[in-house]
Amino acid sequence: MSLLQDDLQEVLLTQSQIQQRLNELAAQLQRDYDGKDLTLVPLLTGSVLFVADLLRRLPGPLRLDFLGVSSYHGQTSSSGDIHITKALQLDVRDRDVLVVDDILDTGLTLIRVRDLIAALRPRSLKFCIFLEKEIPRQSGFCADYIGFRIPDRFVVGYGLDYQERYRNLPCVGVLKTEITSKASADTPRVR
Ligand code: IMP
Ligand code: MG
Repeated sequence: MSLLQDDLQEVLLTQSQIQQRLNELAAQLQRDYDGKDLTLVPLLTGSVLFVADLLRRLPGPLRLDFLGVSSYHGQTSSSGDIHITKALQLDVRDRDVLVVDDILDTGLTLIRVRDLIAALRPRSLKFCIFLEKEIPRQSGFCADYIGFRIPDRFVVGYGLDYQERYRNLPCVGVLKTEITSKASADTPRVR
């Protein structure tokens, strides 16, 4: 059987680096949300591993409701046009909402998500993002909690996909160029 790991040219974050950082991040969230009415809103699909590992480390009461957002992309970049593929089921009015997502790239998607949730009048609205690319960000979007800052490269693993594959890698890495150069033309795809 071929292994996903063999398609990587470089591992940027190992499984153990990720797990260790999550301990710190969860401890910080636990302190900041102590006594608050936390509703976690992870975005489908890229946040699944991140949120599952965070949840295990958050022993306090919280609610969980996934938001499905689809953004129209080229192969490896974002356009900012989104539509909702799964709406929130819980009422977040007057709740402390923490959006959880995989990566902050241009920030265009998260700006749209922020506007959408802010209109529901939560008590507070913050963003916890696994990865932030170190790039000048025209959108000006800033996350409140960040797992890791990474260079401006297209990465896969730990929830992040390339053409819907590689999400199940427990580490984060960069694909070999022969994998990405096989890519087909731009198609709409779900995050
Ligand atoms: P943004 O709107 O440009 O911030 O990007 C939003 C989405 O693009 C992310 O949630 C990912 O689904 C996808 N994305 C951006 N950069 C990467 C990457 O390096 N690897 C995989 N997906 C990415
Ligand atoms: Mg994606």
